[in-house]
Amino acid sequence: MDNEKFWDSEYVDSRLITQSVKPQKDFFRFLAWMKKNNNMDLYGNISVLDLGCGVGRNAYYMAGQYSAEVFAWDFSEQAITKGKKLFQHKKLKLEKRDMMKTFPLEDNSIDLILDITASNALNEKGRANYLKEMYRVLKPTGYIYLRTLAKEGDKNAKCLIKHFSGKEYDTYIHPELGITERVFSGPDFKQIYEPYFTVIRMLRKSGYQRFGKQNYKRNYWNVYLKAKKK
Ligand SMILES: C[S@@+](CC[C@H](N)C(=O)[O-])C[C@H]1O[C@@H](n2cnc3c(N)ncnc32)[C@H](O)[C@@H]1O
Repeated sequence: MDNEKFWDSEYVDSRLITQSVKPQKDFFRFLAWMKKNNNMDLYGNISVLDLGCGVGRNAYYMAGQYSAEVFAWDFSEQAITKGKKLFQHKKLKLEKRDMMKTFPLEDNSIDLILDITASNALNEKGRANYLKEMYRVLKPTGYIYLRTLAKEGDKNAKCLIKHFSGKEYDTYIHPELGITERVFSGPDFKQIYEPYFTVIRMLRKSGYQRFGKQNYKRNYWNVYLKAKKK
């Protein structure tokens, strides 16, 4: 099954994602860090781009709590339809869009980009476009919050790569779901993101990936990045 079809089916009859409408808890840690370090005035009419937003739980939080203008994109029609029913806010624009395509946004127009467990689904060609487009739209003062699957210390990831490896580096094709996911090691972030952004902070946290009635322990990297342009 291709990834888009999988995610559409997931939002109709979910086996993998939680039904939580509360923001992702690691994301609160990032926001607290932003405030503590005075990196950005989150209340200052900022613009946010949430890539792979799902139903928009994190995007809605940014619009409601900080009155941010939020562009929230997901390539699943079902996620967007569901999100529009769950979350309405005049500053929240939920749209069906693929982050592997050109972003219909002005250069240097976004203060904060969120990629919360979403880009680990991209192939290398899609990732190249995502990096180029994030670089283009992020303001020189902008930040990125990235949460993604970690390789280190994750027995499930190692087992999936060993037995169900995908075509590209550190990918697996989930045996039950048929989707391809990539996992990342710490040094990968410097190699992949540093040509465009500066890696400021990396935190590895454990979490659970639900599948059916079972929860699998997974490790996640939380990476805080800053724009690298004048
Ligand atoms: C694990 S969910 C996380 C959703 C959301 N960020 C959250 O925290 O609730 C991953 C999401 O990424 C979306 N996604 C995957 N590849 C995408 C792509 N190329 N363009 C847009 N969305 C994508 C999926 O449809 C799915 O909703």
